[in-house]
Amino acid sequence: MKKEILIILGWIVVVGCSSNNINAVYEPIYLEVEQPANFPEISYNLDNNPVTEAGFELGKSLFYEGKLSANDAIPCAFCHEQAFAFTHHGHTVSHGVNGGIGTRNAQPIQNLAYQTEFMWDGAASHLDLQPVIPITSELEMGETISNVIAKLQTDSYYQSQFTKAFEDGEINSENLLKALSQFMVMMVSSNSTYDKYIRNEDNVTLTDIELDGLATFNNKCATCHATDLFTDHSYRNNGLSINPSLNDEGRYAVFENPDDLYKFKVPSLRNVAVSGPYMHDGRFSTLEAVLTFYDSGMTDNGNVDAVFSREDGTLGITLFDYEKESIVAFLNTLTDEEFLTDERFSEY
Ligand code: HEC
Ligand code: HEC
Repeated sequence: MKKEILIILGWIVVVGCSSNNINAVYEPIYLEVEQPANFPEISYNLDNNPVTEAGFELGKSLFYEGKLSANDAIPCAFCHEQAFAFTHHGHTVSHGVNGGIGTRNAQPIQNLAYQTEFMWDGAASHLDLQPVIPITSELEMGETISNVIAKLQTDSYYQSQFTKAFEDGEINSENLLKALSQFMVMMVSSNSTYDKYIRNEDNVTLTDIELDGLATFNNKCATCHATDLFTDHSYRNNGLSINPSLNDEGRYAVFENPDDLYKFKVPSLRNVAVSGPYMHDGRFSTLEAVLTFYDSGMTDNGNVDAVFSREDGTLGITLFDYEKESIVAFLNTLTDEEFLTDERFSEY
């Protein structure tokens, strides 16, 4: 009798599991990546990896999934927190598994569909490849891709979600990376006060000091922080002193071209008011400190961008007090509350 009950229970469990997979089918519902009127064209090749509802949901689950790390406790979101434009709040450089301390400040995750190179030095030349770096980095998630795949393969949620998201339904590295990209390319931040002002929406206006800041910014900063993405995607050396304990050579590490020494990717300034601390090593904790640095804190590290050469032979961008104050007021208009609280990108 007892044996029979066990057999029946066993049967229910088996049927229960497999019906889970039988229910999961690939019936793609396509989602469109936003193309705001004031943005350049999307650079991510969507034909290669079109975003679907199921792929996006899978990518989001993976982004918040501890199993992508060696100790099952460090998801991508550990260092990329939504309220801070997906940066690692309160950390100059990020720390990961087993308390490992990284060497760089976590970058925001926003508007990546409009970028072709990733990381502070551009070491990742395709968004679909970027996550391999944090997953396998000893200091970040410390895991191997094959272990991640093995863990996901034994999880019934992922068994059915991969089936829904991809035609071949395979839980493999290609689909893992494609799903993460589908989630990340949807993360478009384009609804700050500034955006609404520039697109003439909802009668949004800027105050006098914000407008003064915008004008000074266009004059003195927009060569590099260009377009409404606020970056020209170039690598520049902006005269930061070398941190001897890190000696981060920036773009030089990628191609060992001497001309690239201490160059870093020009960061977007969207949501900059919430994404501090600033620069590749998080050395400045406020925007005021950044502006004081541009005005009077540059170091000749040997390869500083010519834009910063002043007539008197010193390096920097001269900024009077009111200019600093108004630039900060303008930068604050780049905060996009809708993006920072958008539930499509939130864990729960
Ligand atoms: C331990 C902290 C940490 C974890 C975990 C982490 N990241 Fe990052 N992320 C960083 C840091 C630091 C950088 C900048 C790295 C550099 O430039 O060398 C970065 C950069 C990025 C970038 C580049 C953004 C740009 O504008 O170029 C993307 C995309 C990204 N991470 C996605 C992810 C994904 C996806 C995961 C999970 C698979 C992840 N990160 C896990 C800290 C982390
Ligand atoms: C020659 C190009 C160039 C010019 C001009 C320039 N910047 Fe930058 N900016 C950069 C680069 C490159 C970085 C990143 C440097 C690093 O971390 O090593 C940066 C970083 C920043 C950051 C930190 C952002 C972050 O997420 O960490 C802020 C804020 C900033 N710049 C504001 C300004 C303002 C305001 C001006 C005008 C007064 C200006 N920049 C002029 C190239 C430039």
